[in-house]
Amino acid sequence: MTDVQQNAVPLSKSHARHLRRARKRQEKKGLEKVHDEKSTGLLCHEPTVLHTCSSFGDWPLQDESCKGYLLQRHWDTQGERFHMLVELLSRQQQERGYNYFDKQIHVHLGHAKRSAKEVETILRAHAVELVAAINRVDTPPELALLKEELATMVAADAVAIGTEIIAKLGPAEIIFQAETIGMNRCSRWHRDAYNGRAITTYNGVATEYQDDSNVDFIKIGSNDNRINANCLLDPKQTRQCRAGDVLYMRGTKNQRGGLVHRSPLPVLWQNGAVRQRFCLKVDVPRGGSCSAAQELDVQTRLQ
Ligand SMILES: [Fe+2]
Repeated sequence: MTDVQQNAVPLSKSHARHLRRARKRQEKKGLEKVHDEKSTGLLCHEPTVLHTCSSFGDWPLQDESCKGYLLQRHWDTQGERFHMLVELLSRQQQERGYNYFDKQIHVHLGHAKRSAKEVETILRAHAVELVAAINRVDTPPELALLKEELATMVAADAVAIGTEIIAKLGPAEIIFQAETIGMNRCSRWHRDAYNGRAITTYNGVATEYQDDSNVDFIKIGSNDNRINANCLLDPKQTRQCRAGDVLYMRGTKNQRGGLVHRSPLPVLWQNGAVRQRFCLKVDVPRGGSCSAAQELDVQTRLQ
């Protein structure tokens, strides 16, 4: 066991018991590969609900014939080389009194016409600010290069994703968000109350999503989390991104409607602590958040 693993913050007994039970329930439904930390295949269904793309430039964001786009660039190792660094980042945030690392930056563009160069300059400046905390993580010398690699990759992704969104959708504002996710996950099936969100996970398990045809939209709106968890007609049809992939999903503010998704069940270290994963989100807002989206689904149900 590594030093980071030994020092990872352990869960309470009841919380660890809850996770074990949740994992068993998922295994019974045939999702065991999703949470097998050694698995790199996850669920390999061809995503029909999404258009798959080979570059950000291939995202036809104005085309509303699907729920979103998946840039498949996953890594066979699930980004495991970043595990220790991400644990350190999360732990150092906890030592500062925060539950987890979360950096949000609003990029205000307004409606003024801007040249591509001008947009790039704005995005780069905000991306540098976004990853500053990664660069500040106090790491042993052997992780210094890895820290630089992650910060460079996250900043480059933020700029590339932001550039495509601004060029094709022209929003007045986008939001960059970098965060570590452990227990602070969106565990319910839901749709985001955004126009759209790009999300990429750099280590560990990544976002699960559904075709609408596999979802009971009465159950998804239930206040009861157990009913929400059973909203799938066939749990084996669950699709999942992999570390490195970039998912652009429409939200409920988009005419096409939102992609049903949730965070994956956490993977635990041997000492029972939740393994932290690092995510970048680029949001095209019009208000709302994951929790607001869940409220919206509930309200839809109650009306
Ligand atoms: Fe969400």
